[in-house]
Amino acid sequence: MSNEQQVHYYYPPEELVKNAAVSGMDAYHALCKEAEDDYEGFWGRRAKALLDWKEPFTQVLDESNAPFFKWFADGKLNVSYNCLDRNVNKGLGDKVALIFEADNGEVTRVSYKDLLARVNRFANALRGMGVKKGDRVVIYLPMSIEGVVAMQACARIGATHSIVFGGFSSQALRDRIEDAAAVALITSDGQHRGGKALPLKPIADEALTLGGCDTIKNVIVVKRTGVDCNMVAGRDTWFHDACADQSDVCEPEWVEAEHPLFILYTSGSTGKPKGVQHSSGGYLLQAMMSMQFSFDIKPSDVFWCTADIGWVTGHTFIAYGPLACGATEIVFEGVPTYPDGGRFWRMIQDHKVTVFYTAPTAIRSLIKTADNNPSVHPRQYDLSSLRLLGSVGEPINPAAWEWYYEHIGGGRCPIVDTFWQTETGAHVITPMPGATPMVPGSCTLPFPGIQAAVVDETGTEVPWGQGGILVIKRPWPAMIRTIWNDPERFKKSYFPDDFQGKLYLAGDGAIRDVDTGYFTITGRIDDVLNVSGHRMGTMEIESALVAHEKVAEAAVVGRPDDLTGEAIVAFVVLKGPRPTGDEAAAIIKELQNWVGREIGPIAKPKDIRFGENLPKTRSGKIMRRLLRQLAKGDDVIQDISTLENPQILEQLKG
Ligand code: WT7
Repeated sequence: MSNEQQVHYYYPPEELVKNAAVSGMDAYHALCKEAEDDYEGFWGRRAKALLDWKEPFTQVLDESNAPFFKWFADGKLNVSYNCLDRNVNKGLGDKVALIFEADNGEVTRVSYKDLLARVNRFANALRGMGVKKGDRVVIYLPMSIEGVVAMQACARIGATHSIVFGGFSSQALRDRIEDAAAVALITSDGQHRGGKALPLKPIADEALTLGGCDTIKNVIVVKRTGVDCNMVAGRDTWFHDACADQSDVCEPEWVEAEHPLFILYTSGSTGKPKGVQHSSGGYLLQAMMSMQFSFDIKPSDVFWCTADIGWVTGHTFIAYGPLACGATEIVFEGVPTYPDGGRFWRMIQDHKVTVFYTAPTAIRSLIKTADNNPSVHPRQYDLSSLRLLGSVGEPINPAAWEWYYEHIGGGRCPIVDTFWQTETGAHVITPMPGATPMVPGSCTLPFPGIQAAVVDETGTEVPWGQGGILVIKRPWPAMIRTIWNDPERFKKSYFPDDFQGKLYLAGDGAIRDVDTGYFTITGRIDDVLNVSGHRMGTMEIESALVAHEKVAEAAVVGRPDDLTGEAIVAFVVLKGPRPTGDEAAAIIKELQNWVGREIGPIAKPKDIRFGENLPKTRSGKIMRRLLRQLAKGDDVIQDISTLENPQILEQLKG
């Protein structure tokens, strides 16, 4: 964007501006100024106003042990109380909290009163099993009412949950159970997806036999598909049996604001996934503020975030944020393509969804579906209930943005392109729907209070118009507190010495528009890939590949993909001779399945190429930049004079 180029701004409709929580750019700038003038006051006032405290806090921010920041540290509260009891107490008991739509289309509505009772019964059941404050509970469940109930029940008794996405393998589940030393595992017999019933409990069973899971004393199993499963006496209990005789009253465990509400594992550039630890008070505050500022949530809204509870988006925008705001939300079990590619649009129509939040990758695949099959084109559905759209997980390309705006939003709905991360807990750069003029492909400006900047390698801010490294200059309430079991890695990853430990390193590159200062995210600057909005570490996939008996060496890079954003490309050297033809095809399949089993189907390389070696410098370093060019199919323009073995480039071309 520059003066010479014509930038097309999209403006929020007047109706929305009039009633918006942040109404107009003056209001936005006033909030930013409020935070600049009195940073602690800005967050402290909202923490008092938006959360119910059992014991009020006296200090907002404690920076004495930076970068291990503490927020509202001497205050006590309970997250589940804030999400449920207080809404019931406010007279919202009969309001629908969750509209659950199953894979087969069956709809279940759960009121706030009913949700509270379900949470309390399960919280009592967990307590009865001896689960107590500070214990870790791993949740390995499909999208379900019970998934939300389980998260809220943990919060109620002060247990720290760690959700493992249902698409992860037994090995990945085992690693997370072991790292957190979890005492209980909550899973289901199976799950419904796209008209099929898939097993889940057998994967959990396998995880528990892989070693390192001795800390698990109880396995609680939700009956979902009704498939037979092996229940180990003394360890395994059906969820419905566990809840059967429990009281629907349960005194919340009042915890310190800093008490870890959850751990969520995410991929980094090196080693194993890291357990991102979040707080209770600061996290919930910003979950609510994101709902209010970015989604302008109103009592009459029907909010739908299509993410899975296995990702942070499903934590902040399904399990916590919407409930804390007393909203009505959709929880969807199925997939966007079943029974047909109109599923999302039909659900928006049927449930009169007003705020819809999804990922660019879903939009891109649904554009394709709509183009190929006019009978499920969004124009076939009444989408007039929508008033606001959101995007998350990866940069949204302008063509997808415009389609979303036009065909889903009917040209009336602002799109909030929300940039954030597992580590940030809540939105950090995003338009305000009733204020910010939007530019497709830009996440625009920082969330009020968040001090984002683009810097060079020394931590010095670069001029607008110049690309650099995205950082956040001051701690914020919903930020990551540490990496579970690895505080050193936390410091190294997020507050590196290069910046004197003073700046939060997001791991993304960014550029600000010369005229407006709008941020555009240019992609990860580390070895992390973003495939369909899911974060994958290249090292993790490489470790999985070299664990296969036939593999000597592997290097994994990303290449741009029209549908998934990035696609995983693996360059592999086998212990035996370099395979070709049918033999190569068979080994590719074998390795893809292997990675699927080691990590999960989302980590399967789309493209695997074999070489007799990998391109290396004379000192033995793999030349990843060169591999990225090969993966893209580009001509190698890089200087290859340092390359030890230039002849293998031919072998590795796609
Ligand atoms: C990474 C975080 C918390 C959202 C779900 C993903 C990328 C996320 C955007 C956006 C451009 C985005 C970044 C970020 N990302 N949202 N609106 N525009 N990039 O959470 O798995 O922790 O991944 O997703 O690269 O660092 P995550």
